[in-house]
Amino acid sequence: MQRHPWIIAAALSIASAPALAAPTVEAIARNCVVCHGPKEAGQVEIPKIANYPARKMVEMLTGFRDGQKEATIMNRISKAFTDEQIQALAAHFAGQ
Ligand code: HEC
Repeated sequence: MQRHPWIIAAALSIASAPALAAPTVEAIARNCVVCHGPKEAGQVEIPKIANYPARKMVEMLTGFRDGQKEATIMNRISKAFTDEQIQALAAHFAGQ
């Protein structure tokens, strides 16, 4: 996978930032795994996002947010995030 400077920058800022940045992305990410974690019987199929390519995650989340990609729920969830938070989430899940 091609590495983009902003992915590395986001990863570094998560790793080195004191108090605020790290718990924020981790706290957001905990909500994601509620749905994207192991699938339970009878549940709608939800794609796995652990080890998800960062560039694709940015593309998917901004696409959902900006209405370019169809979604049942991710469109609403993605609206909550800034570009920076989406990049931080992408770096977070790509590193799992
Ligand atoms: C309420 C359950 C729920 C939560 C919470 C949730 N997702 Fe999703 N996610 C879905 C569903 C369902 C889809 C399939 C698209 C749709 O219908 O919205 C999806 C699709 C995706 C996709 C596209 C996967 C693909 O390859 O098609 C990505 C990326 C994603 N979610 C990331 C996240 C991230 C990051 C978070 C946390 C900020 C998150 N999701 C939180 C339910 C959820």
